[in-house]
Amino acid sequence: MCGIIGFAGDKEAVSILVEGLKRLEYRGYDSAGVAIVSPEGELQVKKSKGRLAVLESHLSEEKPLRGKIGIGHTRWATHGEANDQNAHPHVGQEGKIAVVHNGIIENYLEIKNSLIKKGIHFTSDTDTEVIVQLLEYYYKKYNNLMDAVYKVLHRIKGAYAMGILCSDCPGQMLAARKDAPLLIGYGTDGNYIASDVTALLAHTRKVTYLEDDEVAVLTADQVQIFDSDRCLAEKIIHTVAWDVAAAEKGGYSHFMLKEIMEQPEAVQKTISPRIMEGKICLEELEQAGDFLENITRIYIVACGSAYHVGMIGKYTLEKMLHIPTEACLASEFRYSEPLLGESTLVIVISQSGETLDSMAALREAKKQGAKVLSIVNVMGSSIARESDVVLYTWAGPEIAVATTKAYTTQMVLLVMFAVYYGERLQRIGEKEYGEIVNGLLQLPEKIQRVLDDVDEFQKTAAKYFNHSSVFYIGRNLDYALGLEGSLKLKEISYIHSESYAAGELKHGTISLIEPGTLVIALATYAPLIEKTLSNIVEVKSRGARVIGLATEETAPVIKDQATDLFVIPKVHPVLQPVLGVVPLQLYAYYVALNRGCDIDKPRNLAKSVTVE
Ligand code: F6R
Repeated sequence: MCGIIGFAGDKEAVSILVEGLKRLEYRGYDSAGVAIVSPEGELQVKKSKGRLAVLESHLSEEKPLRGKIGIGHTRWATHGEANDQNAHPHVGQEGKIAVVHNGIIENYLEIKNSLIKKGIHFTSDTDTEVIVQLLEYYYKKYNNLMDAVYKVLHRIKGAYAMGILCSDCPGQMLAARKDAPLLIGYGTDGNYIASDVTALLAHTRKVTYLEDDEVAVLTADQVQIFDSDRCLAEKIIHTVAWDVAAAEKGGYSHFMLKEIMEQPEAVQKTISPRIMEGKICLEELEQAGDFLENITRIYIVACGSAYHVGMIGKYTLEKMLHIPTEACLASEFRYSEPLLGESTLVIVISQSGETLDSMAALREAKKQGAKVLSIVNVMGSSIARESDVVLYTWAGPEIAVATTKAYTTQMVLLVMFAVYYGERLQRIGEKEYGEIVNGLLQLPEKIQRVLDDVDEFQKTAAKYFNHSSVFYIGRNLDYALGLEGSLKLKEISYIHSESYAAGELKHGTISLIEPGTLVIALATYAPLIEKTLSNIVEVKSRGARVIGLATEETAPVIKDQATDLFVIPKVHPVLQPVLGVVPLQLYAYYVALNRGCDIDKPRNLAKSVTVE
């Protein structure tokens, strides 16, 4: 959602901030701004509604902002519409302190009203402004910035990552966080704060993660981090594995297309280090002792596409482990009073590792004594840090808002977990174990074969991009896959689409099928192909146009019913959705391209959802 970058160093800050904000653009935003303190203590702020280009043009037209210390922000409106006043940074009424903030201050109204009674005048509708006005209020009272910051942190409730500048301390930048990500970067030309590591990759890969309630004080040549008792905290500096090229488009017209094309490599990187001599080896679980002992129930908890992985996982885990497994939407799970305990395993799936609902579900699970395993892409993210065990997907940075390579690697890792655990429980036979391991090893090459047919998906998308409504149907794993295909299409092309369990059509939805309705029939799940065929015939006989998705094995069964047919290689059924999703991603991509949509940054969406 919102993005933060800050710099304290020995170079002019403005271009570093703007370049950092560009790298955060992908998260989604509607306004942007920067604040810089000059060495003489002049606090200069520029901010504006709209894309970064608007801010850049203001910066180039007007008096240049001078100074080697500054903070920048991309805002995704929550409190108050997207306009210049509500854009960050916000400055207190004394004009001394500037703040950028991600998150939501829940008790902002109460604080705002009490400050208004003290004569403080507010100029925006944001919750963030209370932080800066309160900071100035305490700063005036105690004449010490750190005292003021700690006072504010005690007073505010909610989630925050923030960067703070004060004109009285021109060489210093402060930062704090609670329930929202913030990293510190250690560069050769200065030190940085950022809400997302991709903003830092061009400058440094040495980072430390700020913990809840910590406060960082950064200057050009020093970083000090204090805990909630104001004691100096010992921090580990991590080296991020990603390089800057991984976060660039590299000749592709969109990050989404690049990331779709990167799937063979991402899957390879996720699988290779974990298969040794035909055995799946999940070291993280080996080291976790009796973590997997006596589990009687599993919940897979996630949001959006990661939840769709959970749906696929439910089928696979129950089949391999014979342990009752449920896939739950994180936003529902946390309020559904789930009954958890020591024998419950909660698997949290998250690309970003920062999704607030998933994080809250994780905390609820831990509170109730459940064991938490997470599948996460971003190293050191909040979900990763708070889980008992983390399995990382090695997909590399995912920039496009619509997830693709993170989704496929999550699926792969969940299958690997199911097979590994199934073997430990002696519930999976040697033959099936071997078949799945072989299937895993063949996946990168088979995904590449699907990608090689890109022209075919492009041509089909060009035929159907004008349909205003699309139905996805399938059974079992194909049903779960349809949910993802439908989400991909609607989020980037803005076409209404829904996914139905094919067997459910007769219970209501089939009334929507009329001559010309577009139905994407997923028919890759061989064990139920005859049943799926009946459902395809049902919609076909009511005049639907059917795009079929089948494997080399199932294609002959459905080909006569499909107006267009995508055929993908066959692989073990539990891995089939990994191949099946690729045509659906490419189809959605090319439909959106034909419709002229902003594919990498669809309207109203953000990459990482750190609010409820
Ligand atoms: C859709 C998409 C979202 C995310 C969801 C969870 O393309 O990307 O539905 O899957 O917001 O995000 P993470 O995985 O970061 O927790």
